[in-house]
Amino acid sequence: MNDLYTRASAAADFLRSKTALQPRIGLILGSGLGGFADHVQDAVTVPYAEIPNFPQSTVQGHSGKLVIGTLSGVPVAVMQGRVHAYEGYSMEQVTFPARVLGLLGVKTLIVTNAAGGINVKIAQGSIVGICDHINLTGTNACLGPNDERFGPRFHDMSAAYSPRLLKLAQEEAQRQTWTLNSGVYLAVLGPSYETPAEIRAFRTLGADLVGMSTVHEVIVARHMGVEVLGLSVVTNMAAGVLDEPINHAEVMEIGKRVSQQFSSLLLALVPQITALPAGA
Ligand code: HPA
Repeated sequence: MNDLYTRASAAADFLRSKTALQPRIGLILGSGLGGFADHVQDAVTVPYAEIPNFPQSTVQGHSGKLVIGTLSGVPVAVMQGRVHAYEGYSMEQVTFPARVLGLLGVKTLIVTNAAGGINVKIAQGSIVGICDHINLTGTNACLGPNDERFGPRFHDMSAAYSPRLLKLAQEEAQRQTWTLNSGVYLAVLGPSYETPAEIRAFRTLGADLVGMSTVHEVIVARHMGVEVLGLSVVTNMAAGVLDEPINHAEVMEIGKRVSQQFSSLLLALVPQITALPAGA
């Protein structure tokens, strides 16, 4: 069987055959946020099922399409839906799309997700900029032999979430008259939500948000030297914070409700990101 680099290159070559655009920014849209892809202009939409070697999403709310086009004139590749480890996918499958975006030449990856709020100062329904993560999934997307064509064996994660992109996002939010707080995202495997005891433990570890995605995509993005901006939508307070159960329908509903604020922020940010000097 071909190696990962060859398989990811085949997917990237296939996408290049669909459009002459060279995406500068990649976006991965999380639960309830897929509607943002409607903003893409001159869109070429490719179902994941058509892309060689691409994993298929099984979760409701993740539609499974790659949309290549422009946002405010900037070429972008938008993943409408992602696959998660809790669906039974391997680390390689979970991060395959991020690898393909890297091979397509994106310089920036914007990762978005739905998350539970651990820090009580973070309001349900708010958008939070991810400043760092804690990977408690017990695994790592770079496990196994390293392929130097992607990046080095041991790669730095000390500024995995680009401080300058987070600052840019915070400044833009302020311009749009709201405050983008920042927080540490802790990743679990899922699919069960956490117990209240786990959430108390995560709080003492320094986590502000909890979710079941993102960290592995960020690990491979940094492996490839791609700069990362992470945004979470706090769809619910984490287990035990409020005296009520968590349900997926609520997670989806809140995602939809903040989608306008989310879209305004992203639409304004995209051209600003491309105007930055090169560098991660
Ligand atoms: N926990 C884990 N993942 C999540 C949550 C949560 O409370 N909300 C949205 N994704």
